[in-house]
Amino acid sequence: MRETLRLTPTAPARTVAPFEDTTVGGKYLIHKGESIIVNTYDCQRDKKVWGQDADEFKPERMLDGKYEAMPRQAWQAFGYGLRACIGGSFAWQEAQIALVTIFQQFDLVMDDPTYQLQIKQTLSIKPKNLFIRASPRKDKPRLFALPTINNGYPAKA
Ligand code: HEM
Repeated sequence: MRETLRLTPTAPARTVAPFEDTTVGGKYLIHKGESIIVNTYDCQRDKKVWGQDADEFKPERMLDGKYEAMPRQAWQAFGYGLRACIGGSFAWQEAQIALVTIFQQFDLVMDDPTYQLQIKQTLSIKPKNLFIRASPRKDKPRLFALPTINNGYPAKA
């Protein structure tokens, strides 16, 4: 989920404005109240931050403490700072429950095995014409989700 939201953040951009005149990165003067757009989609593919393979889907880059070792603002799928998403933790848990429930009960196959990701944008982004076929699992053991204290939500202290 972290790697998916890095490459394809549901909210691909957001707007921020400084409380006072501010020079960003020592270069760009933004006057008080002027708004700038944070392009989350591109920021989260910055090769200087994520490496030369930044455009590739590699969930392992989020595992074994590697995500925690990244600068906090490198991953901004739920925004950043004071106006960051207040529903992030809820959305994270909801997605986990939905995915676990689906994987527990269904076998999934791509409707079109040759499908290549295309993105459709309204306010948020989503896959275009992506269809998945779900059939009830029959011959595999059912798995049970266990309650856990750390739900894996990526916010750091
Ligand atoms: C995957 C699901 C979600 C994503 C990717 C997401 C993403 C975001 C982002 C990027 C922002 C910052 C917007 C900005 O700075 O302009 C935001 C703000 C916000 N989100 Fe979410 N969100 C999600 C789910 C939710 C849910 C489930 C709720 C409520 C239950 C929620 C409530 C809010 C609210 C109220 C704000 C505004 C916070 C503020 O301005 O102080 N979001 N969200």
